[in-house]
Amino acid sequence: MKKDFIAISDYSPAELQEMLDLAVELKKERMTYGMNVPILQGKSLGMIFQKPSLRTRVSFEMGMQQLGGYAFYLSPQEIGLGQRESIADVSRVLSGYVDCLMARVFDHQHVLDLAKWASIPVINGLSDYNHPCQGMADALTILEEFGKLKGLNVVFLGDGNNVAVSLMHICTKLGANFVLASPEGYDLNPEALALGQKFAAESGAKITLLRDPHEAVKHADVIYTDTWTSMGQEAEAKKREAVFPPYQVNAGLVAEANKHAIVLHCLPAHRNHEITDEVADGAHSRLFPQAHNRMHAQKAILVKMLK
Ligand code: CP
Ligand code: NVA
Repeated sequence: MKKDFIAISDYSPAELQEMLDLAVELKKERMTYGMNVPILQGKSLGMIFQKPSLRTRVSFEMGMQQLGGYAFYLSPQEIGLGQRESIADVSRVLSGYVDCLMARVFDHQHVLDLAKWASIPVINGLSDYNHPCQGMADALTILEEFGKLKGLNVVFLGDGNNVAVSLMHICTKLGANFVLASPEGYDLNPEALALGQKFAAESGAKITLLRDPHEAVKHADVIYTDTWTSMGQEAEAKKREAVFPPYQVNAGLVAEANKHAIVLHCLPAHRNHEITDEVADGAHSRLFPQAHNRMHAQKAILVKMLK
C-alpha cells in the first residue's frame, strides 16, 4: 500500500478490492455486534477542512472512534492553510502530533503538498480534482447491490466533476463500464480521462462520453448524479442552472434505464435541481445507504493507512 490515500488511480485493482473487502468485514462486525474491535486504539486523526462538510467530517470522526482511535476537526479559520502558515510547515508540525491527516481542500495541489511534507499518511477528503473516499463508498454500495462491479453500466449525469473522476477510476479499475453524459464545456478533466481509458483497457471496461442523457441511461445499472455547482464554483451557479436541467435525474429518465437500476448521489442533494424528490426518496434510490457507506469504506482506508 502507498503511504497516502490521495487518488483511486494510485492503487491497483487488487489493493482496492482488498480495501473494499475489509470495509465489508468492518461493516458486518459493527452491524452484528454494535461495535468494532478497537484496532486503532491510541491512533489519532487530524481533519483539515477548507470547505464545509457533513458526511466527510462525521463519518471520519465516528469511524475513528468506533475503531478505538481519536479524531479532531481543524476549521479553515484555525489553520489558515497556506495563508497563516505554509502547507509545508503545517504538515511537518502536525506529523509530530497525530498519526494520520485527512484534508478537504480547494486546490488538489494542496493535498499533494501536505502529503509530500507529512511523514504520516494523508487522506484526501475531496479536492477540486477528485473525491476518492466517495469513490470507495460508491463502489461498496454498488457491490452490496449487485455483488460485483465487473460488466455493470455505471452512468454519471451532469458535471464531469471531482466525484465523476473518482467514480470513473474505481469503475474502470474494477471492470465496470463508465458512461458520462454532460453538456459541452463540462467534460471530465482530460488527464483523469486518459488514466480512466488506461484502466479500462486493463480491466476490459469501456468509457462512453455522450451529450444525450436519454441515450446514456439506456441499459444503465447505476445512475449517478451530483450538484451542478460544486463548492468553489458559486459565482457560476446561475450560468450552470441554465445549462444542466436536461440532465436532471427524474422518474421519466429513471424509467428509461434497466428495471433494476439504482440511483446514487454523493450528497448534499439540491432537490428538484439535479435530482427530484420523487427519485431521491423512491424505490431506486440508495442515497442513504451510500452516505452511510462513507463511514465503513473510510474505516477500511484508515486501517490500511495506519496498521
Ligand atoms: N459527499 C460528501 O463528501 O459530503 P460532505 O460534503 O457533506 O462531506
Ligand atoms: N462535487 C461536489 C461534491 C460535494 C461532496 C463539490 O465538490 O462541491
